[in-house]
Amino acid sequence: MGIDIKNVRDIEAMRVVGRMAAETLLMVGEKIAAGMSTDDINTLVHEDTLARGARPAPLNYRGFPKSVCTSINEVVCHGIPGPEVIKPGDIINVDVTSIFNGFYGDTSATFYIGTPTPEARHVTEVARRSLELGIAQVREGAYLGDIGQVIQEYVEGEGCSVVRDFVGHGIGRRFHEDPQVKHYGRKNTGDRMKAGMTFTIEPMVNLGNYAVKVDPSDKWTVRTIDGSLSAQFEHTILVTKKGYEVLTARPGSLRNSENASAVFLMS
Ligand code: MF3
Ligand code: CO
Ligand code: CO
Repeated sequence: MGIDIKNVRDIEAMRVVGRMAAETLLMVGEKIAAGMSTDDINTLVHEDTLARGARPAPLNYRGFPKSVCTSINEVVCHGIPGPEVIKPGDIINVDVTSIFNGFYGDTSATFYIGTPTPEARHVTEVARRSLELGIAQVREGAYLGDIGQVIQEYVEGEGCSVVRDFVGHGIGRRFHEDPQVKHYGRKNTGDRMKAGMTFTIEPMVNLGNYAVKVDPSDKWTVRTIDGSLSAQFEHTILVTKKGYEVLTARPGSLRNSENASAVFLMS
């Protein structure tokens, strides 16, 4: 199965849904606070998504029971919202995927609850920066491996590790399409990017070792094996001839995460 190339109408639809997911994530940043449960975050995302006329893609996706993924501290990804209450010092990734007019938009961020420890801040800022560096590799003719190499070099140079078992993915009319976008690897390897491709970049960065394990009881929650903290950011990206467009760019800065890292703010 090849990599779908989006036409101008598809791209416009992906801009619309990407913007919706971005705005829902911005709303989460405004409201998130110590004392909330991850179920409260789920309710916020679910209702905000429906209010936009969109649907939350995680709900019932391969049996996932909730409308958003909430991944706290050593949880790497796919945390299931529930009664757990977030507390000062936690970091939590909230991963929003919306469906509108037949297209998907997928974006996530890691939030600080109260004041982070130096370790929490380090792994979170390394994850944030690694996504920016990966995005900067995108343009027609570049290799998918170019993204992986810059992310891996940067993350390992900062004393952290890149998760291998989960990757970015093509996205469009389906949640997960070809290609796989690895966050590690070697430049000048893998598929070449072509204008009109749309995929996510979503590096999961661990403070310790990259090895992860899926919880055998819920079959979803992914944790670091060594118990170290993990952080992640995700955007949905369009490849263009000259570079890229961030389809999930935020029309404002994210509270409780970035200060004014204006790199992917909309002008
Ligand atoms: N949003 C995740 C991703 O970035 C996928 C979550 S699948 C779910 O690919 F079922 F857990 F929601
Ligand atoms: Co994704
Ligand atoms: Co996602």
